[in-house]
Amino acid sequence: MLILAVESSCDETAVALVRDGREIVTDQIFSQAALHAVYGGVVPEIASRSHVEVISQLADLALEKGGVTRKDIDAVAVTAAPGLIGALLVGVNFAKSAAMALGVPLIPVHHVRGHIAANYLAYPELEPPFVCLAISGGNTLICDVRDYTDVHILGGTRDDAAGECFDKTARVLGLGYPGGKPIDDLAQTGDDRKYILPIGHVDDNPYDMSFSGLKTAVINLAHTAEQKGEELDRASLAASFCRAVSDSLVPRTMQAVRTLGYGKLAVAGGVAANSRIRGDFQRACDKENVTLYVPPMRLCGDNAAMIGSQAYYEYLAGARAGTDLNAWANMEISEANFRGRA
Ligand code: KG4
Repeated sequence: MLILAVESSCDETAVALVRDGREIVTDQIFSQAALHAVYGGVVPEIASRSHVEVISQLADLALEKGGVTRKDIDAVAVTAAPGLIGALLVGVNFAKSAAMALGVPLIPVHHVRGHIAANYLAYPELEPPFVCLAISGGNTLICDVRDYTDVHILGGTRDDAAGECFDKTARVLGLGYPGGKPIDDLAQTGDDRKYILPIGHVDDNPYDMSFSGLKTAVINLAHTAEQKGEELDRASLAASFCRAVSDSLVPRTMQAVRTLGYGKLAVAGGVAANSRIRGDFQRACDKENVTLYVPPMRLCGDNAAMIGSQAYYEYLAGARAGTDLNAWANMEISEANFRGRA
C-alpha cells in the first residue's frame, strides 16, 4: 500500500511516499527555520503562510523523486493534531483535496504517534509492545506503546517540553533558533560538572518531570554573570545543561522500561538527536540488557515519512476521515484513533 503523507504541524513542510508503513520511497522536507530564526522562535502566522507557498510544489517533487504517478497512490495521510492550528490546517486542507481528487481514503495521524513510528522505518524488526520516550519541541512523553494504535501515557513534562527548554536556553546563550543542535555542538568541549543545575522532581508520578526550573536556573546564571561582569564558560554550561536534561529523562524512562518488562525502548523526536541523551540511553540499556531503538538524525526531527508509516497502521485499525476533517491544536496521544472524530 503506497501512502502519500503530509506534515505541516509546526515549521517544517514535508511530503513523503511510504510503502506498507516500513519503506520510504521518498521524503521531501522544506524547513522554515531560517524564516523564524530572526524572531528567536516560530511565528505561527509566518509558518502557515510558508506552508501554503510550498506544499503543492513539494508534493509534485515527491512524486517526481519517488518515480510514481498519481494513480499509484492508495491513500493520503496527514498530521491532524497536535500543533499550530493554522499550520495544521494547511496540511489538512491540502490532504483533503488530494484524497478527493485521487479518489482514495484520507487517514488522519497524531503527530507524536508519527514520531514514534519513525522507529518502524529505521528498524524493520521493531514491533510493539515497547516503551517510547518522545522528546520534541512541543512534547515530552513517556509512553507505553501496547500496539501500533494503542498508546498510553505513563508520564511527561508538567511544564516546558525538553526541546522548548533547549531552545530557550540557547537563546540565553546567544546561540539562535532552533537551539538544540548548537547547544549539543557547544557542549562537546565543555565540562559537564562545572555548573550544578537543578533536576526537577515531581512528587506523585515517578514518570513525570519538570524543565522550567532548569531553564530559569540557566537564565539566572547568565544574568548574574552579566551583572557581575564575569565571563561564563559557555561550553561547560551547555555540557552541564545537557547532562541535567539527560539525568531527568534517562532514570525515569528506564524505570518505566523495568516496570513494564518489554525489554525494548524507543526514543523519538527532535531532541532524540542529542548526543548526550543518545549516549546515556545506550549505556543504560546496555547495562540492563534492553534493546534501544533511536532513529537516524534525519528521522528524529519533523518529517512526513513518519506520518506515512503510522498512517499505514492507523488505516489497518480503521481510521478514516472525510472532507469535514478538522485539525486540533491539542489532542492526547491515547485518544487519537480518529474513529468518529472526523
Ligand atoms: O521533533 P521536532 O523537529 O519538532 C517537534 O515536533 O517539536 O523537534 C524540534 C526540537 C527543537 O526544540 C530543537 O532544538 C530540538 O528538537 N533538537 C535538539 C537537537 N536537534 C534538534 N535538541 C537537543 N539536541 C539536538 N542535537
